[in-house]
Amino acid sequence: MCGIIGFVGKKSASPILLEGLRRLEYRGYDSAGVALLHEGSLLVRKKKGKINDGLARLLKSEPVKGSLGIGHTRWATHGAPSDKNSHPHLDQSGKISVVHNGVIENYDSIKQKLLNNGHVFKSDTDTEILAHLIGEYYEKRRTKNGWGEHPREPKASDGSGLSGASPHQTNGNGENPLTLAVCDALREVIGTYGLAVICAEQPNTIVTARRGSPLIIGIGNGENFIASDANAIVAHTKKVVYLNDYDVATITPERFDVLNLGTDTANVQISKLEFDAEDAQRGKHAHFMLKEIYEQPQTIANAVRGRLDFEGATARFGGLNMSIAELRGIERIVIAASGTSWHAALVGEYLIEELAQIPVEVEFAHEFCYRHAPLERDTVLLVLSQSGETADTLAALREAKRRGHRTLAIVNVVGSTIARESDGGIYMHAGPEVAVASTKAFTCTLLCTALLALNLGRVRDLSAADGKRLIAALGRIPDQIRQVLAERERIRQVAVKYMQRSSAFFIGRTHAYPVALEGAQKLKEISYRHAEAYQTSELKHGPLALISPDVPTVAIVPNDELLDRNIGALHEIAARSGPLYVVTHPGVQVPDGAAAVIVVPKNEPELDPILLTIPLQLLAYHASVALGHDVDKPRNLAKSVTVE
Ligand code: G6P
Repeated sequence: MCGIIGFVGKKSASPILLEGLRRLEYRGYDSAGVALLHEGSLLVRKKKGKINDGLARLLKSEPVKGSLGIGHTRWATHGAPSDKNSHPHLDQSGKISVVHNGVIENYDSIKQKLLNNGHVFKSDTDTEILAHLIGEYYEKRRTKNGWGEHPREPKASDGSGLSGASPHQTNGNGENPLTLAVCDALREVIGTYGLAVICAEQPNTIVTARRGSPLIIGIGNGENFIASDANAIVAHTKKVVYLNDYDVATITPERFDVLNLGTDTANVQISKLEFDAEDAQRGKHAHFMLKEIYEQPQTIANAVRGRLDFEGATARFGGLNMSIAELRGIERIVIAASGTSWHAALVGEYLIEELAQIPVEVEFAHEFCYRHAPLERDTVLLVLSQSGETADTLAALREAKRRGHRTLAIVNVVGSTIARESDGGIYMHAGPEVAVASTKAFTCTLLCTALLALNLGRVRDLSAADGKRLIAALGRIPDQIRQVLAERERIRQVAVKYMQRSSAFFIGRTHAYPVALEGAQKLKEISYRHAEAYQTSELKHGPLALISPDVPTVAIVPNDELLDRNIGALHEIAARSGPLYVVTHPGVQVPDGAAAVIVVPKNEPELDPILLTIPLQLLAYHASVALGHDVDKPRNLAKSVTVE
């Protein structure tokens, strides 16, 4: 969703901010803006619409100077997308500028208080209220009078690596008034925020804070950065600090100081980013989504690398943080996830139940938080999340922890909040996924879930022969994916012919049902066509009524023990003249007259979903291209949904 970038140093900030915002575009946004400090004045440029058509043009006609600035891509929550609602927002005095991700829940009561104090607002946003609140506290802190008794000051942790100077000595009287004003305001705020604040009177300082919305500090040489997403700054530095909830950081070109509003000292750790700026470039591909589809042979190989124990016929992980005895003690697993990751969870349910014989339940992350379902003591919550920042999934994780359960996570983004807050987990190593529609992260989640199921199975009753069977099968996947990708042109032709119809069904059973759900979701997300997935066995209980020459069905038909029944269902569709697009395995006889048959190499049943998914990704991609849509940035959707 919304994105934040900030820079303080000696270079011109404007191009750094603009480039950073471009690298945040993939998260989804409806407007963008920057604020720079130049010769004691704040210069704000902001515009509704895409960066190229809006902000970039504006910056060309009305350039801004300065080597300190903050920028934002906005995804509307309070107030419609418009120039005036775009960030940055100014306070009443015009001296303070704020960008904010998240939602201020008590903004109404704060607004009322500020209105009573004579404040005038220019936008409909909760962020502007926050800017004014910070401004009001700043005046009090600056003048030192009128404040009364100070609340307890949080203690700071000096993350600069410099010894000596306390972060509280920047204004000569023991405190930086901007930092203190931000702390004052945040103590009053209920809600979530990733925040960056600059002030015309603090020429070298950005104050940033997080609660529930990710923020990192990028450490440079004589310059520092902040961002809500490492993609925005990885071209400049790989040394980062992930802020924790309630951290407030004061950043200057030479140092950064972090304090925590909740605890006595902030926990500051410097990490290294594991990817390059080029990894998040499109390269020769027309779209990020296509690039990411084509990366899958490699990403799957990366996810497996170093994790196979051939002798023990099992998988091993560095970060599960559980002993064999603890793994054996798991009585039940609840998997919580959202969106595409929820589909992966459904595959995970099959795999863990089959291989490890542990009962598994899959929950939508947001439902898990509110259902208050009873959980046995030895239930583990497993969360799946590409971004590691999805608010609903994070809330499920926290809820399980609150209830005293162990939590595990399968996450792609290293250092993300879910990765840091879970007790243990597995990284996907899929590299940055930029297209909103998830592809390589989905297949890597399936892969990691299969590895986990193998590990859990082998500490229980799964035979070594089964372990070896799966290990051998894992080695075949990358080449088999390449074979599917070679079918791209045929899949494109089907997409052009059938997937532009206004509606489509996707059907599958057992392991293939989540694949059908994922195929339908991909088509919906980027082609804006109605698509619905059903268990093949449910067809005759309703959906068959809609089958007609205008409604194509994409049938996922693996060569498994249900093959005859699935073929029976295809005949029922063909008898009603429904166009059939069948994704199946070699040797399967599909009914005559099927519009298209895509044959995918057969692997083992546990890993077949990975291969069966890939034609559906290509189908959705080519349908979207044929319809002329923005494949990578579909309307109304965000890559990472960081508000509940
Ligand atoms: C958003 C994205 C989806 C994604 C879902 C969960 O809705 O648009 O593509 O599947 O979030 O994301 P996560 O990062 O938790 O896997």
